[in-house]
Amino acid sequence: MNKAVFEKYNFLKSLVKERKEQFDRLLSFLETETAWLSAPASTKYHLSKAGGLLEHSVNVAETLLRVKNAIAPDITDETCVIVALLHDLGKVGMPGNPQYLINEPTERQKQYGYPASAPYRFNTKLTYLSVPIRSIYLALQHITLTEEEVQAIAYHDGQYVEDNRSCATREARLTLLLQYADSWSGFILEEGK
Ligand SMILES: [Fe+2]
Repeated sequence: MNKAVFEKYNFLKSLVKERKEQFDRLLSFLETETAWLSAPASTKYHLSKAGGLLEHSVNVAETLLRVKNAIAPDITDETCVIVALLHDLGKVGMPGNPQYLINEPTERQKQYGYPASAPYRFNTKLTYLSVPIRSIYLALQHITLTEEEVQAIAYHDGQYVEDNRSCATREARLTLLLQYADSWSGFILEEGK
């Protein structure tokens, strides 16, 4: 566990006040029963290492808070922390059934002393849900979300993902800010990490 990331995570948690009880309950479920603290952020792209998902979520939350403070300061810190920390939550998979599994090298790769082609692979035993749908599915079992928060989490990949066409031109401010913070974190802050 990266100590600096964990400290930032704890500070971000403290910004959630109105729904503190629900948020704490959700996070303690995630921390104790799912891969939340150990999952990578991707199989082979950004932060494909243990703890990568948490590090990415913290980066997105910090970026989102900075951008909203500059251009939309009336949006609450609480709503920003909630959507940022929860946007990729679906990547944990389910309790005891994580989305990412450590990728073992093939027999041929082992024979020639090569590592596996990607550090992680998708767990095919998990029922397919897109990441945002699983994020919302898990979150709503413990915390109430506003319509704007659901929109932001659901469409955070923006127009990179074809399924998101229906939201085009109808994005609320929080959605646009989360899309930006996610791209900035993934493509700039986490480049090569
Ligand atoms: Fe993300």
